[in-house]
Amino acid sequence: MPGNEGGNSDRILTSLGNYRDFYEQVKASRICIVGYGNQGRSQALNLRDSGFNVVVGNIDDSYAEIARKDGFRVMGIQDAVKLSDIIFFLIPDEVQASVFESDIRPSLSKGKTIVFASGYNYFYGFVSPPPDVNVIMIAPRMIGWGVRDVYVRGMGFPALVAVGQDADGRAEGIMLSLCEGLGIFRSGGCAVRSSFREETLVDLLTEHSWAGAMLFLFRAYYDVATSLGASPEAVILELYGSGELAEIAESMRNMGLFKQLRTHSTTSQYGQLTRGPLYVTDDVRKTLYNEAIKILNGEFAREWHQEQVSGGTVLRMSLRLSSEHPMEREEERLYRILGREGN
Ligand code: NAI
Repeated sequence: MPGNEGGNSDRILTSLGNYRDFYEQVKASRICIVGYGNQGRSQALNLRDSGFNVVVGNIDDSYAEIARKDGFRVMGIQDAVKLSDIIFFLIPDEVQASVFESDIRPSLSKGKTIVFASGYNYFYGFVSPPPDVNVIMIAPRMIGWGVRDVYVRGMGFPALVAVGQDADGRAEGIMLSLCEGLGIFRSGGCAVRSSFREETLVDLLTEHSWAGAMLFLFRAYYDVATSLGASPEAVILELYGSGELAEIAESMRNMGLFKQLRTHSTTSQYGQLTRGPLYVTDDVRKTLYNEAIKILNGEFAREWHQEQVSGGTVLRMSLRLSSEHPMEREEERLYRILGREGN
């Protein structure tokens, strides 16, 4: 097996390197995409357009219908896995463990390869494929439709990649060949060497820290600003309703986290740099660290599993409570006038 060389740094891979000949072998393999949702549809279409031989394994639901309409051969999951050399496991993380035991494990055999798009189930051992199967991860840092959109525009996208089990010495080559087929190595894209552990940590820590904190900080901002006489409309548009937040995120992506400050006024730059740190106290750092540990030691995963088996009461209650805040009603009113989605 040739090594992966040529134009790649240790961690950031931007090409197939020496696997070009091997790529042709992988291209001739039989591939099944289990799950035709956000990621499944985009990845299936990209691979097919790159010349791969793709079938879809799905339960008989509306997603299967979409796959048929897109011109794929659709079959039951067990049959699709039996027929295939490479299995993309692209159903929601919450149901992967049970579907793996009922429909995938019985059809797996020596030399097959299973591809995850997230680290979660393999890292925690909720899904543990037999040792004679290759296990790889190609986790796009991009939402499903984006994976297709950039491919159609001839561009690449970033993904975290890892080999979990190399059963027959081919796992790395298969992984990089699939990255090539998915369009990852096109302009603007790259595969970053990672691990199932790292992907799980950074993915969950994002959700548990700034993504969650932003929601509640916005709520607190709303409470304070309206108590001081600001109108709900002004606050909602200022925080996220105008789309400026999305533009800032886009500038961070294109220019860098702090370099995008150049696009703001100097008053804004001064305010952000002197007042921003006030909110990131030692307590906040401590919480961030403790929550990261709870991700790594499986405490959060056990809590979430327990929540699911006991009927999702906490999630339901939290969603209900979040919808009872006055900001929700004001947002609905404003969004209806603006003709926004979902209203
Ligand atoms: P999704 O929610 O879009 O999956 C829908 C598909 O799962 C459908 O084909 C449906 O038939 C199938 N499905 C649902 N429940 C099922 C069950 N009980 N038994 C059998 N099939 C079932 O999933 P999504 O969002 O594409 O996620 C797939 C994987 O990709 C996950 O591992 C996720 O962490 C990962 N991922 C998702 C991203 C996203 O943009 N949503 C981004 C990066 C990774």
